[in-house]
Amino acid sequence: MKERLISLMAEAKNEIEETISLEILENLRIKYLGRKEGIFTQLLKQMANLPFQERPETGKLINEIKNKVTQLLEEKGTTLKSKGKAQKLSQEKIDITLPGILPELGKLHPITKTLKEIIDIFIRLGFQVAEGPEIESSYYNFDALNIPSHHPARDMHDTFYVSQDIILRTHTSPVQIRVMEKQLPPLRIIVPGRVYRRDADISHSPMFHQVEGLFVDEQATFSDLKGVLSTFVHLIFGSETEVRFRPSFFPFTEPSAEVDIACVICAGTGCGVCKYTGWLEILGAGMVDPEVFKIVNYDSTKYTGFAFGLGVERIAMLKYGINNIRLFFENDMRFLEQF
Ligand code: DAH
Repeated sequence: MKERLISLMAEAKNEIEETISLEILENLRIKYLGRKEGIFTQLLKQMANLPFQERPETGKLINEIKNKVTQLLEEKGTTLKSKGKAQKLSQEKIDITLPGILPELGKLHPITKTLKEIIDIFIRLGFQVAEGPEIESSYYNFDALNIPSHHPARDMHDTFYVSQDIILRTHTSPVQIRVMEKQLPPLRIIVPGRVYRRDADISHSPMFHQVEGLFVDEQATFSDLKGVLSTFVHLIFGSETEVRFRPSFFPFTEPSAEVDIACVICAGTGCGVCKYTGWLEILGAGMVDPEVFKIVNYDSTKYTGFAFGLGVERIAMLKYGINNIRLFFENDMRFLEQF
């Protein structure tokens, strides 16, 4: 029995020393110290078979070795625990000297950029920004602008109807009326905003942006119109850009004009973009029709004014050389990232 106990001690010591995890250590604890089946419990049970005189000494030895094994198990437990902690800490260490991951920065949409540029130019020329509703009555969108119900000009605006009298505005011109109803001249306003038409192809989108302009004063003339719009063209497309004013018709202006710039693609020599005319139309304009002044109770013997309307997508397409309006609204990052 004595020899067995001594070799058991050596065996236990060895096993405990070689243990590398707390889990294995716990198995060893059960093997040696387990209350029911542990080696020491069994040894103490076997004492009953020993001659009476040997029992005290053997019992003492068993207890000594049991205490020793208990101590070794505890010590090993403490070392394994602190080792595990150190390892965990070193794994979780954060290297604060590593460069951070930069968040992706957003960019302005090309339409927003163009719109901002247009607005900035007109603000420098003394205009103020006004706004109006996108869901509009046909009165403001058509009638008050001298476009009565059966006027052929209504056909040019493929209108989205909400109800018979409520529509999605087809242009920003109704805001002219809304402003003149509330304010007296002198007036210098621009109206940026979304407009809607039932139209979709490579140069038309059912939703697009316009900037309306309105200038009313005691002696506003067509020369003022030409001066303001030429200045605008030179600021947005460059001072070398050629401008021409071509007679046109709008029900709310008389006389009316369309403004062309020399083709930005071929510089006026003729290409597919300008349909070999050398010119690109960029806006409509004219002197406010006295009929419109009558509707808002402005004295047309005292005041004159000019108005204009330009398409923001068209200007952005010409500025950035984009040939398909749909690119603006597909939100393809590969397109948007270029601005
Ligand atoms: N509202 C016109 C359109 O959408 C553009 C326009 C033309 C506006 C002449 C004006 C103007 O103010 O005077 O086609």
